Amino acid sequence: MKDSMLSDPRFSGIAPFARKVWLSTPTMHGDERRWVDDAIQTNWVSTVGANINAAEEQIAEYVGCKYAVALSAGTAALHLATKLAGEKLYGQAKPNAGTLAGKKVFCSDLTFDASINPVAYEDGEAVFIDTERDTWNMDPVSLQKAFEIYPDVRLVVLAHLYGTPGKIDEIKAICDKYGALIVEDAAESLGAKYKTNGAWVETGTFGNYNAISFNGNKIITGSSGGMFLTNSKDDADKVRKWSTQSREAAPWYQHEEIGYNYRMSNIVAGVIRGQIPYLDEHIRQKKTVWERYEKGLAGLPVKMNPWDRDKSEPNFWLSCCIIDEDAMAPMVRGEQDYLWKHESGKSSPQEILDALAAFNAEGRPIWKPMHMQPIYRTHPFVTVEGNGRGRSNAYIAGSGVDVGADVFRRGLCLPSDNKMTEEDQAVVIEIIRRCFQ
Ligand SMILES: Cc1ncc(COP(=O)(O)O)c(C=O)c1O
Repeated sequence: MKDSMLSDPRFSGIAPFARKVWLSTPTMHGDERRWVDDAIQTNWVSTVGANINAAEEQIAEYVGCKYAVALSAGTAALHLATKLAGEKLYGQAKPNAGTLAGKKVFCSDLTFDASINPVAYEDGEAVFIDTERDTWNMDPVSLQKAFEIYPDVRLVVLAHLYGTPGKIDEIKAICDKYGALIVEDAAESLGAKYKTNGAWVETGTFGNYNAISFNGNKIITGSSGGMFLTNSKDDADKVRKWSTQSREAAPWYQHEEIGYNYRMSNIVAGVIRGQIPYLDEHIRQKKTVWERYEKGLAGLPVKMNPWDRDKSEPNFWLSCCIIDEDAMAPMVRGEQDYLWKHESGKSSPQEILDALAAFNAEGRPIWKPMHMQPIYRTHPFVTVEGNGRGRSNAYIAGSGVDVGADVFRRGLCLPSDNKMTEEDQAVVIEIIRRCFQ
């Protein structure tokens, strides 16, 4: 469908971008090369070295925690965070079993599956908690309902979507009430701040176990990589041990526990070391992109992704918008394909994404909620109404509140690259405007 959009008279006078406008790409500054070269010249081309130590220290200092453990990916950090939580709650598992075997875990629903897959790696069952409309994160009201339905649950996996902090105080209060631990997934929100007890605190420090990511599209990158963040020396030591194959202090390779090859490379750490001084600059640039969209899309039947202006300062990793219900043109999505139809004055996420793609710009659908994913369709889902599964009925009109599904249906991620020029963004905005003609 996107191919025919170039000849659609609604877009007349707009030329495709000669250079692709991306969703979010790495931004290198030059310092990265110095630390990578340093690693090569000193022959620390391994999972030990000065770059790893420096990156760990600098991130811990930036975020305001005592220890950061450098790992191969945010997913690895989340896995070990989740495993540590499982071991704390339920004890050490046999090498062939997960620490969460037979246990349910409450999880953010509107997120990337890497947030919650570690629950399955550890043999647990994710129970998905619906989303609130104020920040598009885990809804505390639905979380409270979930504890009423499953009072034995002791672990919550909480992600901050697109760099916007969720309702941390409310969620922590509920977790404290039920004696539950939190794994905080701050993969998308490094540098985002939240105000609690009158003080601004970084995301990635609120959970009992915390993870960040340096994946290539994140606010700063190492090409890949992640870190586990904690104030506990014991936890930091344990994660470091597990991440390096759980070797014991014996002259030979001796193992008391199952291990993983999850440690960060000193080369990757060199890139990260070069990026850290630019984190605040990237956040400022991303905020400018978000603000230009807010201004440029004014007057259209869309809203930008929301955040709590009193209690949070997002890192604005991705700018998103959501189309007003009465301005939604018909759109259907199958499991792998979609169809949309234009109606005057209306549009749909897939129409806008096709228009952007036709003009050589990259947007993306909102994460498809986890409770809608084929792999997790048999898992429980809890909304403000309680059990969110099986609420439809052939004979009675069901209410079926499902905020995550609604944000997925009406929302989209806009090109959010911090290197997008103001002129290019003005064209992106114009393309979106014309979609509604
Ligand atoms: C919310 C969220 N959690 C976890 C991850 C996983 O991080 P990584 O790609 O570094 O494994 C990502 C991004 O990739 C993410 O967006």
